[in-house]
Amino acid sequence: MFYSEDLIEEIRLQNDIVSVVSGYVRLQRRGNNYFGLCPFHNEKSPSFSVSPGKQMYYCFGCGAGGSVFNFIMQYENYTFPEAVQFLANRAGISLPEQEFSEEARRARDLRSSVLELNKTAAKFYYYQLRSPQGQRGMEYLKNRALSDETMQHFGLGFAGPDGKLLYRYLKKQGVSDQLLKESGLMQVNERQGMYDKFWNRVMFPIMDANHRVIGFGGRVMGDGKPKYLNSPETVIFDKSRNLYGLNFARSSKENYLLVCEGYMDVIAMHQAGFTNAVASLGTALTSQHATILKRYTDEVILTYDSDEAGVRAALRAIPMLKEAGVSTRVLHMNPCKDPDEFIKTYGTDAFRERIDQAENSFLFELSVLEKSYDMKDPDSKTRFFQAVAAKIAGMELEIERENYIEAVVARYQTSYEGMRRMVLNYLMQGAPVRTAPRPSVERERRTEKDSGILKSQRLLLTRLAEYPELFAAVSAYVRPEDFTDGIYREVAGMLFDQLAQNQLNPARIVNHFTEPDQQRQVAQIFNTDLPTETIEEQEKAIADSIRLIISNSTEQRKSLLEPTDLQGLQNLMMESRKRMADLKKLHISLPRGKE
Ligand code: UTP
Ligand code: MN
Repeated sequence: MFYSEDLIEEIRLQNDIVSVVSGYVRLQRRGNNYFGLCPFHNEKSPSFSVSPGKQMYYCFGCGAGGSVFNFIMQYENYTFPEAVQFLANRAGISLPEQEFSEEARRARDLRSSVLELNKTAAKFYYYQLRSPQGQRGMEYLKNRALSDETMQHFGLGFAGPDGKLLYRYLKKQGVSDQLLKESGLMQVNERQGMYDKFWNRVMFPIMDANHRVIGFGGRVMGDGKPKYLNSPETVIFDKSRNLYGLNFARSSKENYLLVCEGYMDVIAMHQAGFTNAVASLGTALTSQHATILKRYTDEVILTYDSDEAGVRAALRAIPMLKEAGVSTRVLHMNPCKDPDEFIKTYGTDAFRERIDQAENSFLFELSVLEKSYDMKDPDSKTRFFQAVAAKIAGMELEIERENYIEAVVARYQTSYEGMRRMVLNYLMQGAPVRTAPRPSVERERRTEKDSGILKSQRLLLTRLAEYPELFAAVSAYVRPEDFTDGIYREVAGMLFDQLAQNQLNPARIVNHFTEPDQQRQVAQIFNTDLPTETIEEQEKAIADSIRLIISNSTEQRKSLLEPTDLQGLQNLMMESRKRMADLKKLHISLPRGKE
């Protein structure tokens, strides 16, 4: 950690989690907490909660959770120091200048180091392209009608034919082989040792939404194979989450995003003024991509290649986008292959026209479906309409079904009544009308797996964080040592200390841990709920948890005794009997009228 714990704490206090998260997620108050749709997975009903009291967020659907720092790290894909800077900035707190001693430099976390290295490499490629050695690359890119300004905007570069140029450059700067390996910029074989992954290619730095270089694509300047070589996945590069061009597209003024297949399409569209274009690179669109797109827009226009692969990719992307709550249209590129070629051939205005004419995704799906039926044959045509009716029956809202019936009738000149009845038939047969799973169901499924004892431990810690007034009663019976799992015991220790000093601060406990995995676990510990109705039931659940925790603790200590240690066993049994007898006096009472 680079900043003192006090400073971190100050920054956290100045950034109320509800106000920070509200900048990203629409939240609604429910009881003591706020709820909204989780920005980290696709869902239709809100299971993402933010607690002002605990200063934590937690998603009952996907388990994401932590303090305000974790939220910013997860949302913006920031490292911890970056999140600290971001939130300090937001609160107007100035950070002390960082002195990077050699030791501190070595201790930087891996993600920061790899980011730094990518930046160095991007600069290196950038200057290569603009030096005499880069002439071939420059000619290639000019040939593809890219202006100097565009090349600069996208930070395009060049990797020369010498396969060790970057390696030697980085070695001279003292970068370790270990870090080079992690960066994805190098390859290793027995004969040559370590050498550059990219050589003799024009280079496309891939940036995340915050303009940081997280990987590269390199294109051959001709017909070699593979056409594009991409960085492998690294600690900072996850292909299923990143969209090329998003760093610029996110600030475009349009209220839709254009999604295409590749580097050159994005660049050509931006150059033509369509600065809202992005691409998933070398992979099909994933549901994570869809979730991220939904952060920025409610509508996507797919501008995939017009070939069969492009159509298949669109058919796969449409339901995924729908699931994320994004509505989709499909742009027709014919007679061209892709946006790059289209804009070159027909120009900007023609492309804008195609955007306006982009087809509703359902009707696009029908056009594709239609091709596998012989519409001149009455039987085949009937089967086609049956398939269409089945699809419409699967839609969630009646008004949506109604609108699509009308659209189909208009397009295929078929009878409205006939179509409507066919849809109703499917509905009555119980066509799979899909509804989103309720969060409580998901919640139960998630917790089924871990044992009752851990659940009891979590419940007690959650309630203590919510009702510090319980501490006096609870601490008379339970000690932090009674919590069995490693991280639970540590969390309990810190929470008991805070409560004893009257300084409850669960978010600080989250930030005591450094691994995101542990932080998520702490968020879960402090967000455990049981489906109880009345206050009396809640009180009983707490008391039951305490009994279970104590008897489990005795059991565990017993199992740790040497089998020959009869004296130890006797002591333990005596103590246990006394604790159990004491427990009869246990009285848990929650404040009335708080919930
Ligand atoms: P395309 O083959 O359609 O390339 O692949 P393109 O974008 O039209 O590029 P140019 O115009 O020929 O230069 C679409 C995308 O698929 C990925 C790249 O991200 C590319 O932009 N791809 C393609 C690869 O990763 N590797 C390949 O060998 C080919
Ligand atoms: Mn293409």
